Amino acid sequence: MLSFEDDTAASGTRPPQARPQLQSVPAGAPAAAFHADAALDPGILARPEKTGDTHGRVNAVDKRIINGKTDVNQLVPFKYKWAWDKYLAGCANHWMPQEINMQRDIELWKNPNGLTEDERRLVKRNLGFFVTADSLAANNIVLGTYRHITAPECRQYLLRQAFEEAIHTHAYQYIVESLGLDESEIFNAYNEVTSIRDKDQFLIPFIETLTNPEFQTGTTETDQTLLKSLIVFACLMEGLFFYVGFTQILALGRQNKMMGAAEQYQYILRDESMHCNFGIDLINTIKLENPHLWTSAFKEEIKALFLQAVELEYRYAEDTMPRGVLGLNAAMFKGYLRFIANRRAQQIGLEAMFPQEENPFPWMSEMIDLKKERNFFETRVIEYQTGGALNWE
Ligand SMILES: [Fe+2]
Ligand SMILES: [Fe+2]
Repeated sequence: MLSFEDDTAASGTRPPQARPQLQSVPAGAPAAAFHADAALDPGILARPEKTGDTHGRVNAVDKRIINGKTDVNQLVPFKYKWAWDKYLAGCANHWMPQEINMQRDIELWKNPNGLTEDERRLVKRNLGFFVTADSLAANNIVLGTYRHITAPECRQYLLRQAFEEAIHTHAYQYIVESLGLDESEIFNAYNEVTSIRDKDQFLIPFIETLTNPEFQTGTTETDQTLLKSLIVFACLMEGLFFYVGFTQILALGRQNKMMGAAEQYQYILRDESMHCNFGIDLINTIKLENPHLWTSAFKEEIKALFLQAVELEYRYAEDTMPRGVLGLNAAMFKGYLRFIANRRAQQIGLEAMFPQEENPFPWMSEMIDLKKERNFFETRVIEYQTGGALNWE
């Protein structure tokens, strides 16, 4: 029940440009190479034969998720209503990190007896992954995915999603700042901690494919390359790599520890569930529109990536929990990751890879499915309203 992402035509007259640096985007980097001209090629401007000619008006049936030829500036007529509905839901769920009180977390963190050393390690390793993960996600959308998608209602959702990724990075930064953690230690963890670096190294080639200005869709090979990157991003990054981390912090919250951080993660988890669901809808619609892409060899490639991702996330679980903590241990996560991988595989039409795995954390499913249901902590989310306000019972 959980849940994402153009065409480029590099002009021969345009000088070659540097590839965007995703792993560490230096401040002032060339607007991270947002090649707006190439990126918007599938119709940055509609070009009717002459003024008053209605021949080129958009017909919904002509729209395509990739390699479409219709004007990307015309949101309607809708064809992909599911994308528009998710855009509306994302807006209705708007929240901001500063709306959550972090005072009790600050007191607990400063109290020498407030948390065990293992709990502190878990929090720091956890933030060490997330503080840069959502920047990777945002860069992937803005610099990569967006320009390869030719359905304007899907682009509309991606714009909303990109802002949500910024809010998530803000939330993690807000927690780091509130607790007075060593910023350089936390923000450099993805360079310095092997289990985090390995996850990011796995993702970066797929992100770089989409953000490479020379890359364009339109052949079976390049369309499969795009589809593979979308699957890695939605199913394995947002849909798997985030889940050990979410479970850990929400488990702290269930024990009345780090309640503010846990509440932030609860909102983030809800957003990420929708990102993952959007991505899966996007992948499945591309499959429907381009059935020739879904070959046996391609499916085998995807399965191998799933297995690799499960292993990487398991190693991260071991590294963050070298001993049992909070009633959790790495071994429990092996089953959980297999359970999630099965679900993601089935959601995109692959067979379960690990038959008979059961969810060792059923309480996580309840949280994931929340729209505005009960909160596991002390407040109860009733409704989110646009404009930043939250209503609580
Ligand atoms: Fe995010
Ligand atoms: Fe996301």
